[in-house]
Parts: sequence; C-alpha cells; structure tokens
Amino acid sequence: MRPLIAANWKMHGDMSWVEKLRDFDRILPPSKRTEIEVLICPPAVFIAPMFKTAGGTSIKLGAQNCHAEETGAHTGEISAHMLKDAGARYVIVGHSERRAGGETSAGVKAKAKAATAIKLKPIICVGESLAQREAGKANATVKRQLSRSLPEGDKYVVAYEPIWAIGTGKTATPDDIESMHAHIREIVGDKVRILYGGSVKPANASDILHTPNVNGALIGGASLEMDSLAAIAKAAM
Ligand code: PGA
Repeated sequence: MRPLIAANWKMHGDMSWVEKLRDFDRILPPSKRTEIEVLICPPAVFIAPMFKTAGGTSIKLGAQNCHAEETGAHTGEISAHMLKDAGARYVIVGHSERRAGGETSAGVKAKAKAATAIKLKPIICVGESLAQREAGKANATVKRQLSRSLPEGDKYVVAYEPIWAIGTGKTATPDDIESMHAHIREIVGDKVRILYGGSVKPANASDILHTPNVNGALIGGASLEMDSLAAIAKAAM
C-alpha cells in the first residue's frame, strides 16, 4: 500500500496559498516522490484554483467535508459531486472538530456513502477522547465509531486521530498507535489504508510512519508550511 500523506489545512489560508503546490514541488519534486501519495485538503473554495495549478504536479486535492445529498435546498452546503467536479479526489468526513459540533456517526456514514457512490474517496476519522482513553475505553469507542460510520466495501481510508492529540503537541506513543491500528486493521481488513493523525510533525513522522499498520498520516498544523509537509512526506519513503 502506498503511504498517503494528507494535509488538512482546516480554516487556514487565502488565495495566495494556491501557489504552495509549486513550493512543495520545488522542495520535493514529483520524480522524487513516486512511492508515496501526497494529498492537500484546503478550504473548499481553493480546490478549483489549486486543481488548475496542480496540472504539472502529482499532488492530489481533497475536501474537508461534504453533504450527504446529491443536490437540493441545503443553503451553504457542498455536495460530493461538486467537490469532485472542482478537482477533489478525497474528502475528509467525521473529523473530530466536526463531530464535536454535533456530527453523528450515522451522518458521517451517509456522507461517506455519498462520496464512494461517485468514486470520491472518503477519509473517515475516528478517535477517542482523553476521558475515554483513561477509562480504558479507547478500543471500544473506536470500534463503535467504525461500525456506525463505515460504508459498504473497502473504497475508503480510515484516519485514527485521538482527540487529545489533535493540535495539542501530544502524540500517542508508538505502542498505543501500533495497538490501535492493529485493532482497526481487524475491523477494516487488509485493503484499507489506516492513517494516524494528531500532532504529526517532522520530528516524530518517521517513527509514526514506520509503525506496523500505519499507512500514512493526516496532518494539521505541520501541513501549513511546505518545508514541514515535505519533511513529513520524505519520512514516509
Ligand atoms: P494536528 O491536526 O496535526 O494539528 O494535530 C491533525 C488533524 O486534526 O487532522
């Protein structure tokens, strides 16, 4: 499985960030990253202009959310089809920042189904809170989220992101990551890539990316600077 290095820009950037694709290419040219897949998920309004810029690069683009319906009266929403049309190949669904805002696993599943139906690959996020981990409920929490969030088939990616590790500078220990990824592997089978997310940075990327059953990373803060994203991508090779 080719490792997937996925950048989640969250609500950062402006139109000038479209150029970051070229910056990334200068630091790590396409010819030097044949063994990995690099994905940037910018705010949705930047996808189409970035897709134009991405013409000469092999960086893929993704979105950070989609609506479950194909079309209709849903003010402010964007459908999976619109994102794909704009150039997205992936869409993150069920990020903990959205689950914290009320998104349920059933809602995540509906979005993932809408995406897979049109061959837009969902990256389905799961992860426990600190209280759940301390109560010994990390595995059960993730299992429950997966059983309720995953669509049929295997055309999706799972991102394990312990909530307490996101944007905090704290990462799960290699042992915790290995054990959780083995747990997820049992549920999703051999064909699904399982990413780790939560304070991944150049300094810890190599250890994390070479842990068994870790098939890439979902990176927030450290993905905003191309030097740092490229250093993480290199660590995957
Ligand atoms: P972080 O975010 O790398 O800033 O911890 C990861 C994520 O939320 O996907």
